[in-house]
Amino acid sequence: MLATPSPETRAEQVDMHELAPYVDAPRLRDARSGADGVVLTWEDGTEARLPWLWLRDHCACTACRHPQTRERLVLPRATVAPASEMHLTDGHLQLTWPDGHESRFDGGWLHQRRPGQAAASPLPAPRPWDDAYRLERIRHADFTGSATGERAWLEALIRDGLVLLEEGPLADEEVSRLATRIGPLRATNFGARFDVQSKPNPNNAAYTAIGLALHTDLPNWQHPPAIQLLYCLENDAEGGESLFADGYQVAETLRREDPEAFRLLSETPIDFRFQDEEQDIAICAPILACNADGRVVEVRFNNWIRDTLRLPAEVIEPWYRAYHRFWTLLHEPRHQLDLSLRPGDMIAFDNRRVLHGRAAFDPNTGRRHLQGTYLDRDMLESRLRVLARQP
Ligand code: OGA
Ligand code: ZN
Ligand code: ZN
Repeated sequence: MLATPSPETRAEQVDMHELAPYVDAPRLRDARSGADGVVLTWEDGTEARLPWLWLRDHCACTACRHPQTRERLVLPRATVAPASEMHLTDGHLQLTWPDGHESRFDGGWLHQRRPGQAAASPLPAPRPWDDAYRLERIRHADFTGSATGERAWLEALIRDGLVLLEEGPLADEEVSRLATRIGPLRATNFGARFDVQSKPNPNNAAYTAIGLALHTDLPNWQHPPAIQLLYCLENDAEGGESLFADGYQVAETLRREDPEAFRLLSETPIDFRFQDEEQDIAICAPILACNADGRVVEVRFNNWIRDTLRLPAEVIEPWYRAYHRFWTLLHEPRHQLDLSLRPGDMIAFDNRRVLHGRAAFDPNTGRRHLQGTYLDRDMLESRLRVLARQP
């Protein structure tokens, strides 16, 4: 069966119940069917074969996709008979199945989703810091006043794991207002919103005036919060400079310079634990987690809440050596970014990638007050996809 294309240009798109744009694609020129599916050819010469099963499963009619929720209603089958009729109309594919069911597919939508094609994504790839890395700075007014500013902030955070917002108002809860533009605040045992200042009965090293060596927050959680926002309201005490290091970059340095240490930290789960009167939150996980391609995707590093090291006796000393090596690399000046937060600044970072810390401050010389919250990375990515719907 060979469908004849109609000569005129694509009139309008087929509603695939899809909010991301799919118009901007070459026109579908040719469709040939066989026992194992349809071979499609677009104007730019791209060719793809789509099995009948796939086509039936992706029917976008209102019986197969809910018209309001856009969710799939059709169940996949184990086999499906080839369509009994096929037409190519205005660059779109139209199929009639043996049971009479009709499916229409937008040619641009099919082009975006053809096999072997990576999903189109507006999300930048994470880029480990290198010598050329510079902290991206965005003005508060640009973030709140324009989609371009907000996009630049989201992109920098996903790409570099760190971004600075500057010149914001000195307003209580501004951090929550900014965060909720992106998504719901991610609550933890320290609350949905926390104040970092020295407190009388601290339950956490951050609530004292002591220096904080580089760490990630809450590695004792199964899913540590990904995005941390720290909004500076006051910072006139002596000291208290912020420190950052890219866990992805330093893990790669470790892999290069000390592969055995890298192997131990990435393959050996250790215990992390926080305990107070109400909570006992614990997990056993490695310091460095790699994905199936061997790329480091998550860093858990917080010396305060490391629990008892329960390892076979012969692994204990090699593990400490590896841990110490990673610690030393993290704190080397070549890996470290120092920054003095000014009132009205908000630093945001990927807490599962970029480690943060601060120099000690002297509470007798002035006040230091940050307000913080967390967001899930899902919300960041979602916001960027939504903003990218408008070109
Ligand atoms: C924290 C923290 C850093 C700072 O609250 O987890 O690390 O600059 N604070 O006080
Ligand atoms: Zn259908
Ligand atoms: Zn912290």
